[in-house]
Amino acid sequence: MTTIVGIKQDGFNTRFLMLVAPLAAMIYPFLLQGYSLGVRLITSGGAHAGVLPWLMAAVFLIAAFAVPGVALVFAIRLSMIATATAAVLQARRAALLAVATPVIFTFVGVVLYMLGYPDFDKWVLAAFWAAVLTAVISKGNDTAVAAPSRSASISFHLRKAHMAAAVIVVLFLLMHIGNQLAGLAGPDLHTVVMKALRHVYRSTFVEPVLVGLFLFLVVSGFYLFLRATAKPSDRFQTFQIASGVYLALFVLSHMNAVFIFARTYLRVDTGWAFATGAPVGLLKDPWNIRLVPLYVLAVFFVLSHFASGMRVVMLKRGMNMNQANRLMIAGTALGGVVAVLIVLGMCGLRL
Ligand code: HEM
Repeated sequence: MTTIVGIKQDGFNTRFLMLVAPLAAMIYPFLLQGYSLGVRLITSGGAHAGVLPWLMAAVFLIAAFAVPGVALVFAIRLSMIATATAAVLQARRAALLAVATPVIFTFVGVVLYMLGYPDFDKWVLAAFWAAVLTAVISKGNDTAVAAPSRSASISFHLRKAHMAAAVIVVLFLLMHIGNQLAGLAGPDLHTVVMKALRHVYRSTFVEPVLVGLFLFLVVSGFYLFLRATAKPSDRFQTFQIASGVYLALFVLSHMNAVFIFARTYLRVDTGWAFATGAPVGLLKDPWNIRLVPLYVLAVFFVLSHFASGMRVVMLKRGMNMNQANRLMIAGTALGGVVAVLIVLGMCGLRL
């Protein structure tokens, strides 16, 4: 029997393959817990701890970092399917959402902390992913679904507005990421830079405009996400969508952490100590460790999402495909280096 339904042509002929990304997302908190157990064994064992706890901590942390990576690989495969069934469509969106697992876990953790249930985060997350899995399983997988028709002109104008807002926001982000990079020289320089920059981004006029622009990026990005994921996309486009999903959720989670959790609930200054989970730090505290993948991927995706946008602009302006792809890959690699440097600085590396 020949079928035009892409799922069968692309090897996604079992439901199981559609479930890999949400399943990986479901175990993410337990991988971080495994890491923290390794750290506890290292601390309690002191000089006699031996190599095993170190190995354990390293393997679990790498496995936690692999979760968004695995989700991205499956999102790319699912997005390449030309004629999607309802189940593929759902699985594609679930995989893209799973790329943002570090954000979802942090957001749930912060909200439950404020509500007084800090230990329930793993279980709330497991229930959330169980609901996503059920949604994928319950969708039909036999017939292809037609892409919904949405106004091309709304999309065109929205994409332009999205890009214009992004260009303004990038000015803030260059300062903000530069500020985090200053942490490599120590908390003092980070604080000096932050205090100077606060005159700009926390001023009465700039702060509401900045927050408004970020929220506009989230809402417009959501519309573009729905539109883009209804159709097949190549690996570059899927990477752009996945990085956008991560950033949209990160912006909401980060603003909740800064404006509501820190400044309103805890009433603390949102400086270096807050960002780095002082006094215990990011690496040794079982709660704070979630901030390591969160921040690494936030900086990585902010720069690579921008590079993806530049690729599209350059292609429209006539740049050849190979050059445009290389430009994006270079931007993405730079994002990776900057992200790792910032978080190493936050974990104590000094240059
Ligand atoms: C390693 C990565 C990052 C760290 C450690 C970090 C940390 C912080 C801290 C400590 C603040 C409070 C600043 C203050 O009190 O003056 C802040 C504010 C903020 N961050 Fe980040 N951030 C990071 C990445 C990002 C990214 C990728 C975005 C956007 C996509 C972002 C958007 C914002 C916004 C909009 C604010 C609010 C600024 C205001 O007070 O008006 N941050 N961040």
